[in-house]
Amino acid sequence: MNIAIVGPGAIGSLWASYLTEAGHQVNLWSRQPAAKLTIQRDQYAQQSLLNNNTQALQQSDVILVTLKAPSVLTVLSAIAKHIDQDSIIVLMHNGMGTAEGVNALLPNNPLLLATTTHGAYRPSMTQVLHTGYGQTLLGAANSQGELCQFLVDVFNHALSDVTWHSNINQALWTKLAINCAINPLTAIHQVTNGELVQPHYQQQLQNIVNEVSLVMNAEGFEIDVNHLLQTVNNVIHATSNNYSSMEQDIAHQRRSEIDFITGYLLESASRHNIDAPYNQALYQAVKKIEQSW
Ligand code: PAF
Repeated sequence: MNIAIVGPGAIGSLWASYLTEAGHQVNLWSRQPAAKLTIQRDQYAQQSLLNNNTQALQQSDVILVTLKAPSVLTVLSAIAKHIDQDSIIVLMHNGMGTAEGVNALLPNNPLLLATTTHGAYRPSMTQVLHTGYGQTLLGAANSQGELCQFLVDVFNHALSDVTWHSNINQALWTKLAINCAINPLTAIHQVTNGELVQPHYQQQLQNIVNEVSLVMNAEGFEIDVNHLLQTVNNVIHATSNNYSSMEQDIAHQRRSEIDFITGYLLESASRHNIDAPYNQALYQAVKKIEQSW
């Protein structure tokens, strides 16, 4: 297949590399001006891929968007004129709230949402390290997307384990809960995920997760608060040496995904008349840091 990767950061470069290896014709769309970009994954041979080539983008059967949530609509609006209405769009990022805008911008395209637990790290512009094997879930965000379940086989063949989720929003909400718990705390205190096992953080995690589970229940997802807290702690243990994406954004003075993580949660809480003071305080603390730059 012809596959475009829009926003080849760590996760996008990882998929670009595996999909190329699986025999697909992969092209990139990035901030870099070069006509070709090189990707070298782990110890494997370099791959050279077309970059910012409007014809390749137009001919793409699948467009995998691995941009961070705050950039998704801006970048897709800028390149919408080069996107064929039959191209399947797949959004893969932390946080929620971009699908509505993308559906409005590209109403005829099949739209899928994905979430992955693979770990990837980009030590330089040309290298990507696959730091942890994980799982990828894929599901439809519009009726045309419902017809694209076959993509599971395409993606699974390149980088397993990929499964179809008939209610992808439930999976995305669980991932949102994990990000609401881990990301703001690690960003504000500039600590690794593993630091959150300390008792004073555990109390805060409990408060955050309590509020998130109230909102998730109001959204129609039956959630057991202890199970959710356990899930958060499992991720903390599995990624204990990592700095979360929000920690890294704040450390490098880049705009974080807070509006699409805690911000998204707070919007939903307010729609359901639920008070979420702990999450509100974390949201404001991250915003205050961003505004101080
Ligand atoms: O945003 C991140 O960094 C990741 O989603 C997670 C799971 C919190 C691990 O660091």
